[in-house]
Amino acid sequence: MTDFEKRILCIGAGYVGGPTMAMIAFKCPQYKVHVVDINPDRIDAWNSQNLPIYEPGLEEVVFEARGRNLFFSTDIQEGIEEADIIFVSVNTPTKTFGEGAGMAADLQYWEKTARQILECSKSPKIIVEKSTVPVRTAQAMERILGTDGTGKFQVLSNPEFLAEGTAIEDLKCPDRVLIGSRLTEEGLKARDELVSIYANWVPKDNIVTSDTWSSELSKLVANAFLAQRISSINAISALCEKTGADVSRVAYAVGKDGRIGDKFLKSSVGFGGSCFKKDILNLVYLCRSYGLQEVADYWEQVVKINEYQKERFVLNMLHTMFDTLAGKKICLLGFAFKADTGDTRETPGIYIAQRLAEEHCRVVVSDPQALDNAKIDLKELGDAVSYVEDPYEAAADCDALAVLTEWNLYKELDYAKIYNSMTKPAFVFDGRNILDHQALHDIGFNVFPIGKPALTHYRTNGRTR
Ligand code: UDX
Ligand code: ADP
Repeated sequence: MTDFEKRILCIGAGYVGGPTMAMIAFKCPQYKVHVVDINPDRIDAWNSQNLPIYEPGLEEVVFEARGRNLFFSTDIQEGIEEADIIFVSVNTPTKTFGEGAGMAADLQYWEKTARQILECSKSPKIIVEKSTVPVRTAQAMERILGTDGTGKFQVLSNPEFLAEGTAIEDLKCPDRVLIGSRLTEEGLKARDELVSIYANWVPKDNIVTSDTWSSELSKLVANAFLAQRISSINAISALCEKTGADVSRVAYAVGKDGRIGDKFLKSSVGFGGSCFKKDILNLVYLCRSYGLQEVADYWEQVVKINEYQKERFVLNMLHTMFDTLAGKKICLLGFAFKADTGDTRETPGIYIAQRLAEEHCRVVVSDPQALDNAKIDLKELGDAVSYVEDPYEAAADCDALAVLTEWNLYKELDYAKIYNSMTKPAFVFDGRNILDHQALHDIGFNVFPIGKPALTHYRTNGRTR
């Protein structure tokens, strides 16, 4: 143990803690990296050939470092005792009860961790906030640890910006690593320690440092800005559908302006994932608690437009399919909140499946990675939903296909074969605009993209081309 230059612990082996620590261990064989979690099943999976999360490139990184300098266990106490640096990466979901319900972050797991660190620490530690937390959480952590920035504990903020599906690439070549600290001598020393870990593979210019509060707030703001772009283009998609404009062309033309840029302008059925909604609601709650009502309302609108986009998608299906979905069968192509992940947290698929079931429609969910999660998410819908991985089998006898996730495999299916197996007239609702709409129309489908003219074989209210 003493042969290692540094001993790093991460508490929480989830979508952030697992890949992040695997990358540090992979890039820095001189450090011992120990990842702990209260969930023994998760730890068993991290120690197996079947990792608990699907992420391209993750297996290579984990399999290379595991057993060498990367260890997974449930022994939180021992982990805390021997660590020099402790990353806290436990979940901070939206609070479901009491003050701030539905908006504020639920910090109960996070507080429990802070208390455990205090209880088990016998030597000085640097504590690193990895979980996304409301501004000034580091201060709360300091209070629990009984420090004012001097003495045994230094608390740093180091928010993670990786996106799921591209986590390994994002971790290998991050746009930036952000580290916030107190600007005292001890704070800056701790910050340098953390900088020296990332400097093993991240260019120094990409390691941005700041005070703790700015670092915490930057994470919320980055996610709010990204989500805002999606809600902006999704709002415009509604206008495009009314006017016959094409949202992809609008996004392309707008994004060509270097001041705007072309990323995160893909109109969709709505954004999902564990971060965007949660972080914006956190931001809204924060603004409200400081009496900034107008600012809070401004950001809340980003979430509202996202809800509107999902409902619009459902209503479009309902109105297109002759104002009744009762007894119809719709195949959801994709359930994960984005491609290349099995994660379904806040995925639009949950809302859409629930709404379709409410309309007494039968739903077939298909996805190459997310079916296990889908079964949990939609459990209460019972027999109204079935789960079929093979897209050809899933689509058979359906009235419509609804593309909810931009998996590459959906671009390459034999849609003529699928069309022949479906009930007629057959519809496609492309919630990701990834299919060849003209080719589908030529096959016989009535095609409804997002923010583009529909291609139908009958007259519709202004959306026929
Ligand atoms: C996001 C941030 O990108 C990342 O920096 C942060 O650390 C965590 O939150 P993530 O939620 O994993 O990452 O995925 P992201 O790629 O941001 O996609 C979020 C959602 O927006 C997905 O549902 C995606 O399909 C959707 N999206 C994204 C769009 O609808 N249109 C776009 O143009 C981009
Ligand atoms: P994220 O996407 O932020 O990584 P996850 O929910 O995937 O969030 O992961 C958080 C992990 O933290 C879960 O595996 C959960 O079991 C773990 N966790 C929560 N509370 C504690 C705790 N007190 N000690 C150790 N692990 C914890």
